[in-house]
Amino acid sequence: MLTLSALSLHWCKTEEQITMRVNLKSFILWIAAMLLTTATEAAGIDLHLMWDDRCFACHGHSAEFARRFLSVSNGELQGRHHVHDLRRFMHNHYVADSNVDAVYNMLLQQASTQARFKDNCSRCHESAAIFARRSLELRNGELYGRNSGLPVRRFLDNHGALDQEEVDFFTRLLTRVAHEVYRP
Ligand code: HEC
Ligand code: HEC
Repeated sequence: MLTLSALSLHWCKTEEQITMRVNLKSFILWIAAMLLTTATEAAGIDLHLMWDDRCFACHGHSAEFARRFLSVSNGELQGRHHVHDLRRFMHNHYVADSNVDAVYNMLLQQASTQARFKDNCSRCHESAAIFARRSLELRNGELYGRNSGLPVRRFLDNHGALDQEEVDFFTRLLTRVAHEVYRP
């Protein structure tokens, strides 16, 4: 009898401890979840992944779409169907409100950039966005190659006999694309 009550007392205690532990565990998980949510909300979405996910099916590759159907006039991005106020159009067209400015700026840059990465680099590096995700990183705003560890500008000085204009062009292009992929 004595043994039994001691046992049940012991059991009760353990259960209490377990309950407390479970509560503590869910509390910690809850805190972690909150932190994670804040972190994902703070970091911008990779614009090229977003495009491939939500726009590609109807419009194809973003830069090709921009070059083909959009143009730039007095610094303003214009469409064929929607000539003015593309920002407002995109607000009501598949683009999340928080991304409208970023998508607008990406299309603006793409519409005014020639397909030189595609023509000169993509047979080895696929698209600029895939290459940026796989092999490049930004350190204090400057672009570096992951494998070489070198600033891209320096790496390109000895990559395929590019002249100074080409080194400038491709460094600028890849830095812009890296900012679209790695959003603050
Ligand atoms: C289901 C198909 C579909 C999807 C998905 C889609 N669009 Fe469109 N989009 C269209 C059609 C159709 C038009 C042109 C017709 C219209 O609305 O005037 C258009 C027009 C546009 C235009 C203006 C082009 C012009 O010539 O005026 C922009 C910019 C645009 N879309 C951006 C986007 C972006 C960015 C996304 C993804 C976030 C997206 N679209 C997703 C079908 C789509
Ligand atoms: C014939 C194939 C080929 C072409 C064309 C080519 N590259 Fe490369 N590139 C390579 C190889 C191979 C490497 C070294 C392996 C690696 O780091 O991915 C490399 C590395 C790089 C790196 C350094 C990556 C790192 O991790 O350090 C950059 C930047 C780069 N290429 C840019 C370009 C640009 C811009 C163009 C177009 C003007 C271009 N490449 C055209 C094959 C090519």
